[in-house]
Amino acid sequence: MKARAGKRGLLFGTAIDTEGLRDPRFRAVLLREFSAVTLGYEMKWGFTERRRGAREFKRADALVDFAVQHQLHVRGHTLVWHANLPGWLKGIIEEPDAPSVFRNQIDEPIKHFQDRVTDWDILNEVVDPVDGRPDNLRKSPWLRVLGTRFPEEALFRARELMPGAALYYNDYGVEFEVDWQRSRRAPILRFIERLKKAGAPLDGFGIQSHLFASGYAFDPSSYRQFLRDVASFGLRILLTELDCRDNMLPADIGLRDRTVADTTRRVLEVALDEPAVKGVFTWGVADPQSWLNSDPTRKRTDNTMARPLPFDEHYQAKPMWQAIAAAIDAAPGR
Ligand code: G3I
Repeated sequence: MKARAGKRGLLFGTAIDTEGLRDPRFRAVLLREFSAVTLGYEMKWGFTERRRGAREFKRADALVDFAVQHQLHVRGHTLVWHANLPGWLKGIIEEPDAPSVFRNQIDEPIKHFQDRVTDWDILNEVVDPVDGRPDNLRKSPWLRVLGTRFPEEALFRARELMPGAALYYNDYGVEFEVDWQRSRRAPILRFIERLKKAGAPLDGFGIQSHLFASGYAFDPSSYRQFLRDVASFGLRILLTELDCRDNMLPADIGLRDRTVADTTRRVLEVALDEPAVKGVFTWGVADPQSWLNSDPTRKRTDNTMARPLPFDEHYQAKPMWQAIAAAIDAAPGR
């Protein structure tokens, strides 16, 4: 698949982690089919600084070294996120040096990975209209400690430390005609506009693309318009965490696989037809690896394995894989 994607100027990547890479079947598919990787958790603050002041990059370094050794493009994920924070952080929020603790979370990973990682999700999931703020920023420790301009500050600092890197804002929930997704599009666009008006060095927008195989209507023209609105700010777009939840479908595997594939095809047909979209990353390779099979709040209620990814538990390609291939083959060149 990486050759077909590459011919059209598209990156084709996936999330990797320490455990997955130990599986020879995973490594074989990864090296055969993908040209890029994102680390599932090893670069995140909750993992890199489990003990205050004691940064652990060993696992991340092993994965980055593996990627560099195999000429895989690496995406850094992620620096500024409200989730997966170190446990000790809540105890220092009120301390006078809290701002420097948060600023170090931007500086330390960038300085550590330097020019081995030049494509970063600097900001992740910072917009949430549900929190009711006029600026639609998600209420988070970052906002509380660094104030409302923390996104701009993070981007300026990242550019200062990594002048040549691609800096992304990554977020979710924009594909479907369901209220909670429709109501996220304009706030996300206004947030991007605010960053650009502030002169913040934003190069790209990552659309996580955690799709839903049923229950939500998909309107190609609305989705396409959103992509074009993002592109109008001069941004590249990546689909950064593609998977397709089948939790609202009955257990029948054939039905689930066909519906997942059809939803994936419909979304990718539009996305890959937009020149600003420069690549697709799945969030894992085979179903058992999916967060939708490990996150207790998202597991299927019938306790069958969710099937949101392109390969099954035996690393056999599923209809979703063919759907991705067809969308890539149909994509115009970049
Ligand atoms: O397996 C390791 C274990 O060896 C280690 O000792 C332990 C230490 O904490 O961590 C274990 O790994 C867990 C990992 O999932 C296993 O895959 C991490 O604890 C756990 O935090 C991690 O959760 C990840 C989650 O983000 C939080 O970082 C999920 O894998 C990952 O799929 C999920 O991804 C997020 C994106 O970053 C942002 N968009 C939403 C997406 C899904 O929530």
